[in-house]
Amino acid sequence: MALYSDKVMDHFRNPRNVGKIDDADGVGEVGNAKCGDIMRMYIKVDDEGIITDCKFNTFGCGSAIATSSMATELIKGKSVDEALDLSNKAVVEALDGLPTHKIHCSVLAEEAVRAAVKDYYDRKGIAYNPEDFKETDDEELHKLGEE
Ligand code: FES
Repeated sequence: MALYSDKVMDHFRNPRNVGKIDDADGVGEVGNAKCGDIMRMYIKVDDEGIITDCKFNTFGCGSAIATSSMATELIKGKSVDEALDLSNKAVVEALDGLPTHKIHCSVLAEEAVRAAVKDYYDRKGIAYNPEDFKETDDEELHKLGEE
């Protein structure tokens, strides 16, 4: 079996929603502790709390590009609360899997989405539970890699 699924290769070669939103309502930037790669995510949110647009920029590897691309597709049109529930596992599943040693790259996408939503909440003065924004710890990553 190929190391990367067709979907991963497709999103890596033709990433969706790459770029920057100048008048974004939330911007999140996160770094990956494991590899030092960086990801920035921009979201545009309407009055109903729906994400109408989202873009990303990354200095990450191919898997980071593919997972971020898929993550933007999954949260566009959803509410910010739904975006917050997006797990890296869901992104990996939507891509038909990633090699174990690349699972940590998908966490970059999940955390960038969360950071952008947190920035949106902060800007709007919306109260939130800080527990929802805890970073994924290494042990959790390890478990993900074993599934
Ligand atoms: Fe750094 Fe993939 S190796 S995000």
